[in-house]
Amino acid sequence: MYPLKRNRRLRTSAAVRSLVREQSLSVDDFIVPLFVVEGSNIKEEIPSMPDYYRMSLDLIVDEVKSLWALGLKSVLLFVKVPDLLKDNKGTEALNPKGLMQRAIKTVKKACPKMLVMTDVALDPYSSFGHDGIVEEGIILNDPTKEVLAKIALSHAQAGADFVAPSDMMDGRVEYIRELLEAEGFHHTGIMSYSAKYASSFYAPFRDALDSAPGFGDKKTYQMDFHNRKEAISETLLDIEEGADIVMVKPGMAYLDIIRDLAEQIETPIAAYQVSGEYAMLKAAAAKGWIDYDAIVYEQLIAFKRAGASLIATYTAKDAARILST
Ligand code: PBG
Repeated sequence: MYPLKRNRRLRTSAAVRSLVREQSLSVDDFIVPLFVVEGSNIKEEIPSMPDYYRMSLDLIVDEVKSLWALGLKSVLLFVKVPDLLKDNKGTEALNPKGLMQRAIKTVKKACPKMLVMTDVALDPYSSFGHDGIVEEGIILNDPTKEVLAKIALSHAQAGADFVAPSDMMDGRVEYIRELLEAEGFHHTGIMSYSAKYASSFYAPFRDALDSAPGFGDKKTYQMDFHNRKEAISETLLDIEEGADIVMVKPGMAYLDIIRDLAEQIETPIAAYQVSGEYAMLKAAAAKGWIDYDAIVYEQLIAFKRAGASLIATYTAKDAARILST
């Protein structure tokens, strides 16, 4: 009761504020998404993601070495697939010499201790731009999860440490886990996109990979953003099916979901600060309307405060710089 209790006493100096601070951030918390393209010496800026690039494998080598030097120890790989290799079955996704499989090996060779995570999804490989096999306008669940498990296995065989299914088909985590176990990949982890909402925040990413849906939208498989309880049941199911890390996506507008999960589960929760969030930060910063560094830090702390223990973010390199100054 005032004045016995004056909350401002604990805010009087930087020293006392840091002493009682509840959250902290470090380079240990980040996963760095990387966009890989065919070719050599290619570093193309993604128009809707300023300062973020698609890179060919020779330049990915330098990139992962510089990430490692900054203390960034995990990457999440995405590939841009040429149109002529796209079909309705994800054939190219299973190619042992495909771009993703080569990317995994390249990163591991350049930087053996780097944790390599891979996006497991059909959309970059799909002639329809969907995360599943399409039949008469419907995204098929069970045939898709069979292909996803094979893709996950192929990534594990190439050396991935974690596979990250981002499709939202029912039952795919169990299918992937069982196939990995059957093939002896007991230590390959699954980071499941468990509560992934059908969101307009993904638009810049779809530009980056040329993976926008060719017809319709993703609302029959990604979650309806009006719902909260559904996120909990989706996530609990993924944990039962064998997910080692679960994820909430997008990040910023979904902190309530992260918090709800943090109160109910013991499994590590990843937040994905997605492309549209990054684009908004960069655009406002370019206008001179916000202090980019300050807001990046504040936003990343908010993920931790909500209950995420790891964060996939396009700001990881900036955050490493901010944290080191
Ligand atoms: C593909 C996938 C998407 C993202 C990650 N994996 C796009 C989508 O589902 O349409 C979005 C990431 C981002 O926006 O940064 N399944």
